Amino acid sequence: MTAPLFGYMGTKRYLAPHVVRAILNVARPGPIVDLFAGTGSVSTALAQAGRDVVANDVMAFICCLQRAQLLRIGEEVTSTTADHILSHASSGIADRSRRFAARRKLDRDAISAEPARLLDHMSRVSARPVCSDPQDYNLITSYFGSCYFSTDQSIALDSLRQSIDSLFPSSEESTSVNHWSGSTVRDIAMSAWLLTAHSVSNTTGHGAQYMKATSATGYTRICRNWRRDVVSRFMAYFVRLLGRNSLLSRPGNRVAFGDALLFFARCDSDSPFGAAYADPPYTKDQYSRMYHLHETLYLYDYPAVGGIGLARNDRFISSFSLKSRALDSILQLVKACRAAGSPLVLSYPKSGLIPLQEEFLYLAAQDGAEPAVTTMDELEVRHSRMGAAGGFLPHVQVVERVFSIA
Ligand SMILES: C[S@@+](CC[C@H](N)C(=O)[O-])C[C@H]1O[C@@H](n2cnc3c(N)ncnc32)[C@H](O)[C@@H]1O
Repeated sequence: MTAPLFGYMGTKRYLAPHVVRAILNVARPGPIVDLFAGTGSVSTALAQAGRDVVANDVMAFICCLQRAQLLRIGEEVTSTTADHILSHASSGIADRSRRFAARRKLDRDAISAEPARLLDHMSRVSARPVCSDPQDYNLITSYFGSCYFSTDQSIALDSLRQSIDSLFPSSEESTSVNHWSGSTVRDIAMSAWLLTAHSVSNTTGHGAQYMKATSATGYTRICRNWRRDVVSRFMAYFVRLLGRNSLLSRPGNRVAFGDALLFFARCDSDSPFGAAYADPPYTKDQYSRMYHLHETLYLYDYPAVGGIGLARNDRFISSFSLKSRALDSILQLVKACRAAGSPLVLSYPKSGLIPLQEEFLYLAAQDGAEPAVTTMDELEVRHSRMGAAGGFLPHVQVVERVFSIA
């Protein structure tokens, strides 16, 4: 099993071998679509098992990570490409370091003083106006500097992003909802950059909020997080992603961006899918709120933000995380797969947001089609909660149900 790119709320890392067996049991010839791909523990395991996969998700940064690991990039891309990005970024780092010298000094003074001083420094920063000129490439410094990142880290991240954008501009294809996306060196560079930001950020796991110096332990953690080096991590992630890409890429793999409920309606492929796998959100925590930092970093679009975490206001609201709409959304998904002639494997915890009974799925699967064969397995697995609602345990034991509808 390939190690996941980063810890993700609800990852099926521990369940992947079982899910893959269930999918292969019902799959017909053709690519297998992972409708809620996340970090791709199932799509990468399927690719390793020799199947073509289509990874779909509604978060743009997730699609970028999926392109970087699943789609083939040219052999001319090597670690010297990362050297090139770094050397191109170095003048930006020097220039911003001069411009933000006063802010850098305030950060340094705050982490060499007592916790109360750091707490005060961070609270002043989070109250500041966040508008900035897009041409300046200061999104991270102006929105998230001195809170999620130290000013030095923000400067390095902004400068690297400017370098990636100018050396490898984004193409329309890689951001469009209606096209299958191809992989580019930009996806590798952007993914290395995102993983670097994730690994240095001053947050708990998902990044919904930054940590504050409300205790001596919190203070020590912030001091440690703010000192993490951006440039060396960027280089290491770039090299790691290159190795991973050659391991997992298959010519038939694709990545799609959009709402899973609309996947079959907007898909213009004539050939049928071998099977679909659905791992929808199963709590009331919206992924777009938990991972807003990652999405804003990726989109780099200077959005209107609010709340203590500075989450973007235009975040996607998933019907699967709304108690009043989750069941209807799951049943819609079952019907869409039946209409497309695709067997479906669905995983959902017994203690999920709604009680999901086999009979509901069975009835939806009968709708206007041949009778379906529905089976259900129950497994006890470790789930990562990444600090989501309900406590601070990193993992919980849950009973996961795996439904197969063929
Ligand atoms: C439980 S996680 C998937 C975890 C994944 N199987 C893994 O192992 O990493 C659910 C994913 O669904 C995505 N999502 C939420 N609502 C969606 C929707 N309506 N359409 C497509 N993706 C959605 C979230 O962004 C999140 O990545």
